[in-house]
Amino acid sequence: MGIRNLLSSFRGSDNSGSSGMFSSAMAIDLGTANTIIYQPGRGIILEEPSVIALERDSGNILAVGTEAKDMLGRTGADISVVRPLKDGVIKEATATMAMLRKFFEKAQTKRFAMRPRVLVCVPSGITEVEVNAVRTSLERAGAREVQLVPEPLAAAVGVGLPVESAVGNMIVDIGGGTTEIAVISLNSIAADGSIRVGGDEMNEAIVSYMKQNAYLLIGERMAETIKIKLGSMVEEDTREEEVSGMDATYGIPKSITVKASQIKTALQQPVKAIMQAVQQGLERTPPELGRDIVNRGIVLTGGGALLKGLDTVLSNETGLPVRIADNPLSCTVLGAGIILSDMYRYRKLLIT
Ligand SMILES: Nc1ncnc2c1ncn2[C@@H]1O[C@H](COP(=O)(O)OP(=O)(O)OP(=O)(O)O)[C@@H](O)[C@H]1O
Ligand SMILES: [Mg+2]
Repeated sequence: MGIRNLLSSFRGSDNSGSSGMFSSAMAIDLGTANTIIYQPGRGIILEEPSVIALERDSGNILAVGTEAKDMLGRTGADISVVRPLKDGVIKEATATMAMLRKFFEKAQTKRFAMRPRVLVCVPSGITEVEVNAVRTSLERAGAREVQLVPEPLAAAVGVGLPVESAVGNMIVDIGGGTTEIAVISLNSIAADGSIRVGGDEMNEAIVSYMKQNAYLLIGERMAETIKIKLGSMVEEDTREEEVSGMDATYGIPKSITVKASQIKTALQQPVKAIMQAVQQGLERTPPELGRDIVNRGIVLTGGGALLKGLDTVLSNETGLPVRIADNPLSCTVLGAGIILSDMYRYRKLLIT
């Protein structure tokens, strides 16, 4: 046995810290849009879209992650491409389990223990039934022990907010399926709100806008690409992009030029819903914490935080300072990783 192995066997298998040796614990952000896995000592070991492609008759898995996402809207009747999570929670349990098992296999290396201890991030308003579904899916996929942490708390730790102190901090996480608003103080959520509006709704809004206003049929994937390239809440955005799809009247392929201002119009409804939810979250905030937020502002996390100009619009609407997290897509899992490395210190953040 080498000296490294000898040392690590003395230390036990968990909590390798920065040593990079054996670790059988990992943090997972099982999101509607993306699944990210983090292992203490190694960092992010997997980052893939939460998508699985199955052969319809046999149920055989054809692809997971990016490969499966590329198949969305491109397959015939014999293949089904499934996004097994919706609105932040598990919609299709078997598909979720199968996807997770594949992700575990993908992330596996020599250093990776077969049955890891898992800390998983879940929406703050999750029901007991939904908690059980997450637990069961992870256990069936190979996890040994499953613990849960509310997403906004993990995100707050990930962006370095002082979650343990008696000051109010506000996180607005705009994910694929949901937008979660949380005011955090003294290790817990003092006020929260969650709406089933996020990046997916924005994509759907673009699909219907293109159909109604440009007679162009596009898929969910194309809508997301347009959103990321052209989506903007900025007033004077003059960018344009070529968008192709099917003509809604004649059913033949066609291409048109789309302006950023059109996408801004298309996104008005979901963005308005997000603004209202933030306003309501603020109204529910106890006055002392509200005062802290006036000073400290709002931190935006989740992929939706990357929508150009959204921070400015939110700041104008609320009159509060708004800052986008440094790693909006990964701060939740990074926070869960920090919690995992010091479970005793952060035990009050966990769902019991
Ligand atoms: N530059 C961008 N502009 C706008 N939206 C973006 C951008 N980049 C990513 N997104 C969107 O962010 C969403 C994914 O964000 P994220 O990974 O935080 O969601 P998730 O954690 O999987 O979902 P949830 O938390 O709701 O379960 C997708 O809808 C994606 O289209
Ligand atoms: Mg998320």
